Amino acid sequence: MQTSIVPPQTAPRHRGWPLVGSTYPFINDPLGFMLRLQEQHERLSVVNVLRRDLTILQTAEDVKYVLQENNRNYHKSEAYKILATFLGNGLLTSEEDFWRRQRKLAQPAFYKQRLALMTDMMAQETEALVDDWKKHDAAQPRDISKDMLRLTLNIVTKALFSTDVGDRVAGISAALDDIMHFADQTLKSFIRLPLKYPTPRNVKFQSAVRKVEEVIYGIINGRRAEIQRNPDASYDDLLDMLMRTRDEETGETMSDGQLRDEVTTIFMAGHETTANALSWALYLLAKHPEVAQRIREESKEVLAKKGTSTFEKARELGYTMQVVQEVLRLYPPAWVISRRSLAEDKIGPYAFPADSYFLISPYTLHRRTEYWNEPEVFNPDRFSEENSKDRPTYAYLPFGGGPRLCIGNNFALLEMQLILAILLRDFEVELLSPNQNIEPEPMVTLRPKGGVNLGVKRSTVEG
Ligand code: HEM
Repeated sequence: MQTSIVPPQTAPRHRGWPLVGSTYPFINDPLGFMLRLQEQHERLSVVNVLRRDLTILQTAEDVKYVLQENNRNYHKSEAYKILATFLGNGLLTSEEDFWRRQRKLAQPAFYKQRLALMTDMMAQETEALVDDWKKHDAAQPRDISKDMLRLTLNIVTKALFSTDVGDRVAGISAALDDIMHFADQTLKSFIRLPLKYPTPRNVKFQSAVRKVEEVIYGIINGRRAEIQRNPDASYDDLLDMLMRTRDEETGETMSDGQLRDEVTTIFMAGHETTANALSWALYLLAKHPEVAQRIREESKEVLAKKGTSTFEKARELGYTMQVVQEVLRLYPPAWVISRRSLAEDKIGPYAFPADSYFLISPYTLHRRTEYWNEPEVFNPDRFSEENSKDRPTYAYLPFGGGPRLCIGNNFALLEMQLILAILLRDFEVELLSPNQNIEPEPMVTLRPKGGVNLGVKRSTVEG
């Protein structure tokens, strides 16, 4: 519990409508609604949505308390159970000792040395997109969202399986999109019909799950067969690590079912988020050509260096990294993180019973004027070392925080940094009209509404 000498108080409640509470504004425009709450209530507020009380935490201090200091009292909330109908008991959705064990097993796959090995692959995949863009008619708009989804899907598949899913990419993307829509609609519904009822929505969802599973099981089975043929073969990918790893006590390897859950989780968590962030990035760079030009200058200088590895070069792309951080501030793909308390607790002066629900919104925290000057302005310089030093850590949390911090955060940052540096080195991105404006669409992730379409032309500007 947070220590305080003040007697416990009841948390401030936001008044909604009789019976339905704040369901309508929350479902209809969650970002706008939560920004208004942030203005009206200094620290936190309780709202009633779909007949459930949710406490929205608004300060870095309280967020740190829930995600880190007393994290053992806070489990993932029901929203994750909906994801679990597809992801099973993988890293994102599991809890307690089981989660701890799986996290320990998977963590080495994301160590710096492993990421270094993946950097060339990330660069090669991006160069393939550069070739596509070179062939593109500059007079025609380009569907950037589609490009980014395909690129990040290719990269995560190579990292996991050292193979690509080739021409199955389009089918998988469509299936993953159906799954995301299902999760989004379920989250927003008063009535949730069990999956066994053959409603059109359930049928579509289950068929999408089967499609993705077919690909994943196909790859797992193929790998098992290869290992049987050649037990000494080494694959240097995440699947290999997960398959070979043994429980310290029992010596057992992971079952096929558990392997499926972990692989599906990383596959799913590891590309749509990054793709959305990259689409937002290119949109913002089209709006701010002066920022794009600074990336171009840095990229031309660093990427041309001889005798340094791609990984070392990426570490020198300091300004590009600041741009990535600023994009993730304005449009954090994981725009909301939710938790449920196990036992009663006190947050500041406020008492909460067991089984209380909490929402943390990186989107609104990233716009709180206490932490950010002119929060709506796109300004990568706010992430310079000098400008970052006085900011509370939990005022910025695109990857969450505490023990459940995103396992792929460094993977994603490296990937985004390289992709932007390589694309901007050769191309300029342009808005289709001066007043082109793209709104955020808060689904399971924060998507650019209607996708990002931009003009793409070879850069004529000297670096
Ligand atoms: C810009 C890209 C990304 C963003 C914004 C993002 C965001 C997040 C956030 C906020 C969480 C914590 C959720 C919570 O606490 O409830 C999380 C967890 C997770 N992410 Fe990411 N993520 C990104 C990329 C990736 C990548 C590239 C991978 C894998 C290759 C990945 C795999 C995971 C996994 C497995 C978890 C669960 C970790 C655990 O609980 O142990 N993510 N992510």
